[in-house]
Amino acid sequence: MSYAADRWKTVKVELEGKIAFLYFNRPDKRNAMSPTLNLEMRDALLELESDGDVSVVVLTGAGTAWSAGMDLREYFREVDKAPEVVQERIRREASEWQWKLLRFYSKPTIAMVNGWCFGGAFSPLVACDLAVADEKAVFGLSEINWGIPPGNLVSKAMADAVGHRKALELIMTGDTFTGAEAAEWGLVNYAVPADALRERTLELAAKLVDKNPVVLRIAKHGFKRCRELTWEQNEDYLYAKLDQALHRDPEQGRQEGMRQFLDEKSIKPGLQAYRR
Ligand code: COA
Repeated sequence: MSYAADRWKTVKVELEGKIAFLYFNRPDKRNAMSPTLNLEMRDALLELESDGDVSVVVLTGAGTAWSAGMDLREYFREVDKAPEVVQERIRREASEWQWKLLRFYSKPTIAMVNGWCFGGAFSPLVACDLAVADEKAVFGLSEINWGIPPGNLVSKAMADAVGHRKALELIMTGDTFTGAEAAEWGLVNYAVPADALRERTLELAAKLVDKNPVVLRIAKHGFKRCRELTWEQNEDYLYAKLDQALHRDPEQGRQEGMRQFLDEKSIKPGLQAYRR
């Protein structure tokens, strides 16, 4: 598929092998998320999902920001004047790509946080499966600083990602913190110097490219949903996901993995994946 530079106004795609870099692309506005950007992100994500040449999607930002959150002018002030039902639709369109599409995306996703990350940007950040940040990137739940509580599912996502005390501290103070602190608190997987950010992200993405895509998808969806269920429900649900993997996996990885370990003795699954 082609991802010409003029295809979208507020997002862009660059391919590196089987890894797609999907950019928030409003550097002049620090990649603030406008209603247009929300629709274009949905469009680009759907396209990348059905592109057979893409195995992993990396979400990153053009310029100095990852994303400065929701656009205060275009997403809030301008939409405040619209009919109530339009306001509802604009909110839904943000939720759709961040929480429904990205959180349960069919392919692995990595947030590559290259700079500013504020407020509403925590939604796509937490919705991505994994995250790598510039150790000096600046994060903040800045909503309190301009007079609102965090919107959408940001509070729930923060409770889940960093726990009760830390989430409340960040929500209530609006204090900024660095990529290094984000890694310490588990909000991102790794924080690295700016000049190593892309390389570290590619290294992580390359590991995912090599894995069985059906099993990867079912494993991550199972994990994300199981956090909401009881132990009893989980036992049943996660076994159902496991059975789904057997049924849906065209390469029958389970049989192949066992064959290479037990019969061929050519791999040790504790140390490496089976050859595909
Ligand atoms: N919504 C709308 N516009 C935004 C924006 C946002 N969230 N964040 C940045 N912009 C715009 C600025 O208004 C400015 O536009 P202009 O050139 O037309 O005046 C442009 O982006 C550059 O912003 P500026 O503040 O000059 O950049 P900076 O690099 O000095 O500072 C930030 C970057 C991110 C620290 C600062 O822009 C900021 O605090 N933004 C708001 C962050 C926030 O609270 N987001 C939460 C939203 S839920």
